[in-house]
This record gives sequence, structure tokens and C-alpha cells, in this order.
Amino acid sequence: MTDQSQVLIFDTTLRDGEQSPGATMTHDEKLEIASLLDEMGVDIIEAGFPIASIGDFEAVSEIAKRSKNSVICGLARAKMPDIDRAWEAVKHAGKPRIHTFIGTSPLHRAIPNLDMDEMAQVIHDTVTHARNLCDDVQWSPMDATRTEHDYLCRVVEIAIKAGATTINIPDTVGYTAPVESADLIRMLIETVPGADEIIFSTHCHNDLGMATANSLAAVAGGARQIECTINGLGERAGNTALEEVVMAMRVRRDIMPYSTRVDTTKIMNLSRRVAQVSGFPVQFNKAIVGKNAFLHESGIHQDGVLKNVETFEIMKPADIGLNEANIAMGKHSGRAALRAKLRDLGYEMGDNQLKDVFVRFKALADRKKEIYDDDLIALMTDSAANT
Ligand code: KIV
Ligand code: ZN
Repeated sequence: MTDQSQVLIFDTTLRDGEQSPGATMTHDEKLEIASLLDEMGVDIIEAGFPIASIGDFEAVSEIAKRSKNSVICGLARAKMPDIDRAWEAVKHAGKPRIHTFIGTSPLHRAIPNLDMDEMAQVIHDTVTHARNLCDDVQWSPMDATRTEHDYLCRVVEIAIKAGATTINIPDTVGYTAPVESADLIRMLIETVPGADEIIFSTHCHNDLGMATANSLAAVAGGARQIECTINGLGERAGNTALEEVVMAMRVRRDIMPYSTRVDTTKIMNLSRRVAQVSGFPVQFNKAIVGKNAFLHESGIHQDGVLKNVETFEIMKPADIGLNEANIAMGKHSGRAALRAKLRDLGYEMGDNQLKDVFVRFKALADRKKEIYDDDLIALMTDSAANT
């Protein structure tokens, strides 16, 4: 990839997202989500972990067969049978990718009980094996953000020499912070021989609520692939939310001059489908896709939005495919919003009538948390009966 303004979007909803306890999706649901991601313009879809189960293998194979534009990626540990199984599943895709990883931090090295040299050899052998099967190989040093820098540089260099075409730097436990995230990628690009030949990727978890900021900082440091999931689904506090990084780069192009291939008008539909099939509802105030993300209830905000929508909206709901009203009627609403809402419902009225309806509307809003169109119609019907 030579265009430095292009950031690749790597969606791992079907792999890291599905690893959230309780978020298991059926075979058909996975095919549907993969097809929506492909249509939306996601560059790479991590479709699953083929060695994990027969179901995962079958889903990845079928997604690979049906893929249209996206690269289809399968995850594999640094083990030959994993890599072979991942290849068997993704090889049907027009654009297959094998993603292999091993934990490189001191804590993770202790698990397979490998010393630094032994692990370096495993990395060389497994990446070489993957590259003999597939031209597109991604390698990840799991827990990279807690790995000693000199060892990280050493193993990244080994992976590049063995044929990795993307090096993904995972913040596996959501431990890093924006400045460090940018510095780490910059340091790798400046230090590791061959770094300019490959793409650096960022993969952040949200344990401290910094996944989006850390991913965008990594891009500022030189990463050109962001790994993310719809609604930020993922283990523990989740992964970087696709909708957040994509919309942040779109809205703040002035300070983040990068583009993606994502058709943002498909975001809302995908968010709703992922929430339904995973059984993980989206919190009301979730950035971009939460139920309240574009809703205004207070009188001052409603008045401002009615006069000029940009007073309280930095992006348009339609940009994410949301075509619903952005005014929520409640006890904080003002007269201007009530008049506009009633006009939408077909009621025109003079100031005196509005004054009367407004008093009764406020009394209702004190008793009822949400005011629906039907409540307002009932209020108007009562008002007509009383005059
Ligand atoms: O968080 C992580 O380190 C991962 C790797 C498998 C990339 O998900
Ligand atoms: Zn992860």
C-alpha cells in the first residue's frame, strides 16, 4: 500500500468480538454479518479461529467462499496445525490472509516456557510456514505493549524477514495510552530493518476506555491498519469500536488526514444487527450508535438544533444511516421544540394555544419518562375537546 492517507479497516467482530463471553453467533448469523461487512467496505474481515472448533472452521470457509471484495483472514496460534487449518479455511477466498500470533511479553513467554531465543525460532519457523501457504501473512506479538522494546524489535524483524506482510501490534490488555501508542509504532518504523516494506497495524482493547484514542494515536505514529469491532464488541471491556475510529477520521479530517473505504451510511444497520445476533445491547450513550447519540432533550439544545443543526451536532445522523428524528420530547424540552414537533404531527397553533398545551405537556413529562408521538396526539385531542 503506497497511499499513506489510506487506513485499512480490519474488522474482528467475528473473531475477537465473538470471544466476548455470551456473544456466540450461529453459522448463518456469521455469514450475514460477514456479508454486511463486505458490502460496507471493510478491507479485511477476520472471520474466525479455524482450529478452535468445527463450527468456526466451517463458518470461515463459507465466508471465504462467499466473499466479494474483502480480504478474509483466519487466526492461528504459532503452531503448524493451526496455520494449516487456517489456510484450509481461508484458501477459498479471492483474497485470503493467515494471521498468526504468539505472546511475546515476559508474562506470555512464561506460558509456553520458551526463552527469548527459542521463541524467536518459533516465530521464524511459523511465519515462514504461513508464507509458504499464503502470500498475505499477518503476524502479531501478543501483549506487544508490555514487551521489552529491544525484544519486540528483534522479533518484528524476524517476522518481516520470514515473509509477514502486516505486523499487528496488540495492546492485548488495554494497558497503553495515546502518547505511548504513537511512540511505539514510530519507534518500530524507525528502528526495524524492512519496516518500510510492510504495513503496521494496531489492535487495542478498551480496559481503560482508551482503545479508540490509542488506535488513532497509533495511526499518527505510522500504523495504516486499525483492528476493530462493531459496537466495540470484544473480550472484557471490548475492542476498539469500528464506528468510532471511522467517524473520528471522517469528522476530524482536518487533524487526521486519513480516509477509509467504509461506507458510513451502513454503520447503524450493522450496529443493530450485531447487537441483535450477539445479544449485547448497545448502551444508550454509546458514541455514534447509542440510542441517544443524536437525541436532544434539553430546551436550549433543541432550540439551537432547530435553528441550526450544527450548534449541537458535529456529524449528521444520515452519515451513519440514521434517518430518525433527533428531538426527544421530555421534561427538559422547550416551547420551540414542542411547536416544531406538533407541526410535524400536523398541528399548527397560535401562541395562546401553544401556551396552554405547553403547560399540560410539562405536567405530563413530569409523570412520564418518555413522551411518544401518541402522547402528544392525545394531548392535542384533549385540548380540542376542552376548547
Ligand atoms: O488482543 C490480542 O492480542 C489478540 C491477538 C490474537 C491479536 O486478539
Ligand atoms: Zn484482541
